[in-house]
Amino acid sequence: MAIERTFTMLKPGVLSRRIMGEVLTRIERKGFDIIAAKLVRIPRAMAETHYGEHRGKPFFEELVAYITSGPVFAMVLEGDESISLLRTLCGSTRAQDAAPGTIRGDYAMHTGLNIIHASDSAESAQREIALFFKPEEIMDWQDGNDPWI
Ligand code: RTP
Ligand code: MG
Repeated sequence: MAIERTFTMLKPGVLSRRIMGEVLTRIERKGFDIIAAKLVRIPRAMAETHYGEHRGKPFFEELVAYITSGPVFAMVLEGDESISLLRTLCGSTRAQDAAPGTIRGDYAMHTGLNIIHASDSAESAQREIALFFKPEEIMDWQDGNDPWI
């Protein structure tokens, strides 16, 4: 077992399309533990930091404009090899390559509006979690601690 934490955010189209429950259900059904979650209206400077690796690319402006256009739902997920598993669940970046059954494959027509972000490596996950969450916002809960289940 290699328990990892990864960062994900549901992009602004998820709230405006009222599909947050559907997307969250896919993440929960897969088995990830949601250990932190909040709505965030990302300031422009924070978006530029988050997507810093893409600065200067032709789609950078469009990317920053979209991600700051409304609130995102940011989360930290935990689970065995969660970083690569979540990328697989999201599907390919390019809309044309995102397979049916994946979140992007089922919910996005356009690459620039692909509704979900997921960390692409352990380094990115660590950086992105720290950018979005304070340590005390992360809940280290365990199955079985809830007396109601
Ligand atoms: P993300 O960072 O959002 O999880 O997406 P990703 O790793 O799959 O893809 P990445 O290469 O990091 O690109 C970041 C986001 O930029 C938009 N994009 N548009 N028009 C284009 O050619 C293009 N390429 C990338 C996408 O919204 C992608 O999610
Ligand atoms: Mg990326």
